Amino acid sequence: MTHMHVAGSIHADATSAAPVWLIKPADANALVDGLWSGTATRAADGELHVGGLAASEIIAQCGSPVYVVDELDFRGRAAAWREAFDGWKVYYAGKSFLCAEVARWIAAEGLNLDVCSAGELAVALRAGLDPARIGLHGNNKSDELLRVALSHGVGRIIVDSSDEITRLERLTAELGVRAQVLIRVTTGVEAHTHEYIATAHEDQKFGFSISGGQALVAMVRCYGSPRIDLMGIHSHIGSQIFDTNGFEVATRRTLRLLSQFSEATGTPLPELDLGGGFGIAYTSDDSPATAHDLARGLDDIITHECRAFGIERPLLSIEPGRAISGPPGTALYTVGTTKVVELGGGHSRRYVSVDGGMSDNIRPALYAAEYSALLANRVSGAAPVLSRVVGLHCEGGDILVRDVFLPGDVRPGDVLAVPASGAYSRSMASNYNHTPRPGVVSVRDGRIATLIRRETLDDLLALDAGLD
Ligand SMILES: Cc1ncc(COP(=O)(O)O)c(C=O)c1O
Repeated sequence: MTHMHVAGSIHADATSAAPVWLIKPADANALVDGLWSGTATRAADGELHVGGLAASEIIAQCGSPVYVVDELDFRGRAAAWREAFDGWKVYYAGKSFLCAEVARWIAAEGLNLDVCSAGELAVALRAGLDPARIGLHGNNKSDELLRVALSHGVGRIIVDSSDEITRLERLTAELGVRAQVLIRVTTGVEAHTHEYIATAHEDQKFGFSISGGQALVAMVRCYGSPRIDLMGIHSHIGSQIFDTNGFEVATRRTLRLLSQFSEATGTPLPELDLGGGFGIAYTSDDSPATAHDLARGLDDIITHECRAFGIERPLLSIEPGRAISGPPGTALYTVGTTKVVELGGGHSRRYVSVDGGMSDNIRPALYAAEYSALLANRVSGAAPVLSRVVGLHCEGGDILVRDVFLPGDVRPGDVLAVPASGAYSRSMASNYNHTPRPGVVSVRDGRIATLIRRETLDDLLALDAGLD
């Protein structure tokens, strides 16, 4: 869960500087249930092991910091979503984390792939993915991007504006091809974490408004366009969603739109895509639903709403990203310094600085996302103390884990592991402070494979036109 009112929750509990949701663990060495990737264990040697490898061994082989992807867990989650949503098309949202090997895993597990930029599309095509299994998103797709997508026969393009329809009409004629499209609609539902707002006005950059009528106009235009095959509509309501309330309202509004289209043209549209945003556990405070429970919940809603509108059940699709790529990822960091800061009222906080930070995980700084951390290279008998894990960047907001209880003897050279780091960490990483981005490795049965190699200072300096 993203705790938006951090100061409020900290001060809500006068007996501790910790936020109210954070429980002091009886044993700070224990792995919290549901937070870690499938093969993560505290092994007999005292270390955190993932994919059969000790944290310190992974760092010795791959350097620090490093993102570690538990291959069996990643593929297992992909398969679980496909199985739970039997009869639906499942598109993995590549924006959460994409590289060639992940594209191949996704295809091997029977999923499709969602991309939203020229770079993501290039990775998918170069990885050998069948273009028919790719969906292309984006609110500002260039001529060049659309040309690549159309000439490769990308399975569907999710259209976001009238300008894009004009562009598609011109490019399909120029290339002598057809375009399969879904219209991205805004339902007025905005869902984040446990809450949703069903009456939100549609003040955002994505999609065509249903309530304003633009969605139906765009659909009718595409329907009448000689080289566009209108397949259906697409709605994405938010991120880190834990229940089906927001989807229920969005489904009602999108199905109503489908029935209006059918009445207006006499032709039913075959597809409805409900987007992604399914929540995962970042801390002990989060308890996400399983793919199976979500599938059952969404299925019931669709059956009910289709009956109410008297329409056929459309072909359905979803686009989970973090729910597949988040939990299998663990970020490993090495501790560089520690210091204790007095907070007043007899409280203190231990700052633990690691060799990464906001350049490899911007989410805490960007939207106050919460994470957890664990001492990974050894067990400790020291009492847990309230700690804040911070990075090495020149920025006070360079926080990786705002509040966590770590053993009081965490020291330079120790390894910290941050679970649920597989989504929107590497994919949103930057080179802030000229910091090379960490590598991404996969681990499985005691073997390590490089997914994305670590950047070097030479990589960065090579871009500087003022240097030889
Ligand atoms: C259109 C669309 N689909 C799917 C996703 C994936 O979301 P998540 O990774 O939260 O499942 C996003 C995320 O922003 C999105 O914008």
